[in-house]
Amino acid sequence: MTTNSNIILEVKNLNVEFTTDDGVVHAVNNVSYTVERGKTLAIVGESGSGKSVSSLAIMGLLTGTNSNVTGEVFFNGKELIGADPEEVRKLRGDEMAMIFQDPLSALHPYYTIGDQLIEAVLVHNKISDEAARERAIEMLIKVGIPSVDQRIDEYPHQLSGGMRQRIMIAMALINGPELLIADEPTTALDVTVQAQILDLLRELQKEFGTAIVLITHDLGVVADLADEVLVMYGGSAVEHAGVRELFYEPQMPYTWGLLASLPQISVKKEQLDPIPGSPPSLLNLPNGCVFEPRCAFKNQVANNACIESFPELLEVSQNHEARCHLSEPQRLAIRIDRKIGKINK
Ligand SMILES: Nc1ncnc2c1ncn2[C@@H]1O[C@H](COP(=O)(O)OP(=O)(O)OP(=O)(O)O)[C@@H](O)[C@H]1O
Ligand SMILES: [Mg+2]
Repeated sequence: MTTNSNIILEVKNLNVEFTTDDGVVHAVNNVSYTVERGKTLAIVGESGSGKSVSSLAIMGLLTGTNSNVTGEVFFNGKELIGADPEEVRKLRGDEMAMIFQDPLSALHPYYTIGDQLIEAVLVHNKISDEAARERAIEMLIKVGIPSVDQRIDEYPHQLSGGMRQRIMIAMALINGPELLIADEPTTALDVTVQAQILDLLRELQKEFGTAIVLITHDLGVVADLADEVLVMYGGSAVEHAGVRELFYEPQMPYTWGLLASLPQISVKKEQLDPIPGSPPSLLNLPNGCVFEPRCAFKNQVANNACIESFPELLEVSQNHEARCHLSEPQRLAIRIDRKIGKINK
C-alpha cells in the first residue's frame, strides 16, 4: 500500500519483456515513478523508448500477448500487476482511462460513436439507456463536437482526425476517471487542432481533478502542461524532474540533446531526434550506460565507467533525479560551456 494518499499512481520497478523469434526484447527496464492526484506527468523520449509499452502495462493491456510484465503498480494503493485481470478491466474506462496513440484502433468501426459512448457508460454504471445517452451528449458538447445531435449517430470513419481525437477524449473521460494516460494525444493533428485539444485536456483536468500521464514528443507541450517530466531512453528512465528543474537544470546528456532541439521553449512542435546515432537494440542492451554509444561526453569519465556500468538514478536535488557518471561539477561546466538549460519559460 502507498502511504501518501495524494498519490494516485505509483509505479515501482516496472519491467516489460517480449519474447520474439529474434530473442527477448527488453522494452521497459526498472521504471519507477509516482503521479499525484490532479497533476500531470509527461513522459518524453524518442521512438521505441518504451513510453507506450509501459503505459499499456500499467493499464493491464499487455496480458495474453508474448509479454512478461513484472514489478508493482499501485493505483489508489491497490496493486494491479498481480491483481485479477477482471478487476483491472473494471477499473479501466472507469477510474482509469487511456487515450491511445492511434484513435482509429481504439474506436470500433461498425458502431456509431453514440453507441460506443453509451456502452462505455453502461458497462460501468447502473443507469438507464436514456440517462447514458444524455451523458454521452453532454460529453460530446464538452469536447467541442459541433452538431452533436447529428454526429452522435455517425461512424468513426465519417469524422476528421481532430474529431476522432475528441471522441477518444470524450470516451476516456466520460466516467470521470481519476487517472488518464494520454499517449501522443495530438501528434496526428495539425497545429491549431493540437492547441485546441490540449486546452481541452487542461480544462477537463481542472473540472474532474484527473491526474494525467502525458506521453509526447513535443517539449513545447511538456512546458505547457506538465508538472513533472520522466525522460525515457532505451526502455529506462534516465531523468526525472519537476518541469522547471528539467528545463533549467537538465542533468543527463540525452536530455541535453532533446533540449538542444528546442531553440526557444515558446516554439512549439519541435520533434525530438537531434542526437547523432540510433537507439540501442532492446534485444541486446549494453552492459554500461544505455546512452553510452551516443554520448558525446563519455570520455570525460574515468575508468571506462560508462561502458562498465549503468549509472543509478540518483537524486541531484529535491525533485530531480538523473542517471549519469559525470560528476555534478563536470555537468555544470558542460552546461555552462554549451549554454544548456536556463531557457526562459
Ligand atoms: N508485442 C511486441 N513484441 C515485441 N516487441 C514489441 C512489442 N510491442 C512493442 N515492442 C517493442 O518495444 C519497444 C518499445 O515500444 P513502445 O511502443 O513503447 O515505444 P514508444 O516509446 O511508445 O515509441 P513511439 O514514440 O514511436 O510511440 C519497441 O522497440 C517495440 O518494437
Ligand atoms: Mg508510443
